This record gives sequence, structure tokens and C-alpha cells, in this order.
Amino acid sequence: MILRKNETGSIPVHELIQRRWSPRDFSPLGVEREKLSALFQAAQSTPSSFNEQPWAYIVAAKENPTDFERILNALAPRNQEWAQHAPVLIVSLAKQNFEVDGRTNHHALYDLGAASAHLTFQATALGLHVHQMGGFSREKIKEEFSVPQGFEPIAVLAVGYFDETKSQPTAIRKRKPLKDFVFESHWGVSSPSVIIEKQKKFNLN
Ligand SMILES: Cc1cc2nc3c(=O)[nH]c(=O)nc-3n(C[C@H](O)[C@H](O)[C@H](O)COP(=O)(O)O)c2cc1C
Repeated sequence: MILRKNETGSIPVHELIQRRWSPRDFSPLGVEREKLSALFQAAQSTPSSFNEQPWAYIVAAKENPTDFERILNALAPRNQEWAQHAPVLIVSLAKQNFEVDGRTNHHALYDLGAASAHLTFQATALGLHVHQMGGFSREKIKEEFSVPQGFEPIAVLAVGYFDETKSQPTAIRKRKPLKDFVFESHWGVSSPSVIIEKQKKFNLN
């Protein structure tokens, strides 16, 4: 299913969701300290299983070139090509066991993903963009930053302002239609309660 970047489907969703996308062209403009702090306060507010908050982040702004390079060098070459222009790189990490009794936390990745989504939408609200990456060496990050056992680096996030002079956010979104992932009564049966055909005008209020 093809959607334009400013669309989500038959019903308009919140404009923050419509506006979010992952650019590769970042402006060299730095991210204000208060905005950077707001991103992590958004992550902090995320719900998590047993309120474990099994997330951690390692931040490197370009003003600190040594740390920035340490994260950049861990990226896959194809990601380094564009991510080197982002003003901030962030590693997200998941804590795999519960603090209280060491049991495996089967929701750690789920919760980290939710925290990073909170961070991302806060960034969108502040006019910033986030481009997440799975293409990096977890081992390099562990070694470079002496990551303790039990924490797993999961993604690297490039954060900054989109450089509109280099490209336009006109690319299309490719997304699975709702009928392929929202089921009812039986696995694989598209949910009639949820799926609405394309409408010309629809007001959620
Ligand atoms: C966990 C995760 C890993 C990703 N890894 C990469 C990556 O290594 N390189 C890259 O260019 N984009 C990467 N992406 C970006 C996705 O390709 C992108 O989000 C997807 O194509 C949808 O585009 P949109 O974010 O602009 O809507 C990743 C996204 C996520 C959430």
C-alpha cells in the first residue's frame, strides 16, 4: 500500500504521526540542549512492564567529536555515509533482566521501542527528525563504551533538523494495509470492526 508522507490511510491520524519520517539529509545545525533533554524526558515517561524502565541511552553530540566518532565508527558503512551529517547520534540499549530477581524481561525490547517512539514523537513536536538504525556493530558499541553485561545495544538514532535544501520529503510511504495485520475472530481474518474503506472526508471529533 502506497501512502504519501503526509498521509496515513483512510482516516486522518494525529499530525505528529503524519509528520514523522526518517530523513537522510540532516542540517549541520546543532540540537538545542533543552530540546535534547525534552527527548529523554519523553522517553522517561514511557510505560513499561512492572515499571522496570529497561532502557538506557548513550548520547553523542557533534560538539563532542571523540564520542560522536566512536558511535559513527560502529555504524554500517552505508549508514555512516549519511549519519555523519547528523548533529547527534544516540545508542539505545535494553536491559534484559529484571532488577529485582534477575528473571528474563521478555518485554524489554517492547518497552525500549516504546520509549524510543516517545522520544521520536517529542522530537517531531519540536521540529526535529529521528532516523533509527539497526545497521551497526553491537560489539563495537559494547567495547567502546564499556557497556555492562545484561545491556544490549539495539539501535542507533540519528537526530537533527532536516535539510530541505538537499532533498524534499516527497517520497512515498510503503505500508501494509490494515487488513493484513489487524485480525478479528480468527487469525488472518481482517477485522470488520476496524477496517474502513477510503473516505473522502472524515472527522474524528
Ligand atoms: C529498528 C529500526 C532499524 C532501522 N535500520 C535502518 C538502517 O540501518 N539504515 C537506514 O537507513 N534506515 C533504517 N531504518 C529506517 C527504516 O528503514 C524506516 O523507518 C522505514 O523505511 C520507514 O520509513 P519512515 O521512517 O520514513 O516512515 C530503521 C528503522 C528502525 C525502526
